[in-house]
Amino acid sequence: DAILQVTRQVLERHEGRLGTLLPILHGIQHAVGYIPAVSVPVIAQALQRSRAEVQGVISFYPHFRETPAGRHVLEICRAEACQAMGAEQLAEQASRKLGCDFHATRSDGAITLEPVYCLGLCAQSPAVMLNGKPHARMTPERLDALLAEQGV
Ligand code: FES
Repeated sequence: DAILQVTRQVLERHEGRLGTLLPILHGIQHAVGYIPAVSVPVIAQALQRSRAEVQGVISFYPHFRETPAGRHVLEICRAEACQAMGAEQLAEQASRKLGCDFHATRSDGAITLEPVYCLGLCAQSPAVMLNGKPHARMTPERLDALLAEQGV
């Protein structure tokens, strides 16, 4: 099916290179939005590793999702420069307002909340990314407005 096809395409792109598990997982998540369970045995076989090993790496890195993301994805930078400028307050506000923890998708599937560690906007911190679009100098009010614009 389509997911297996994408998995094989990503594997082909990395064929013959050492240490390719992480780039492969990134490639699949980028293409599909998460790492589908059906991809795991295919990756394991191609890299001659056990399924448990591949699964272990997926579970180890919170970045990798094992279920599809919500319709919107809000990433809040929690790295140092942003933290110094109030990112934790934004993070708490977002989690409370959306009713959803980090690395989780709200039960209605509307939004996924993720931490991110530096968006390269440190000079204009705190920064967030909504659906792949960065927003700098974020304030609780602007975050509210951004989410309202998206209907979440
Ligand atoms: Fe947040 Fe760099 S620390 S953008």
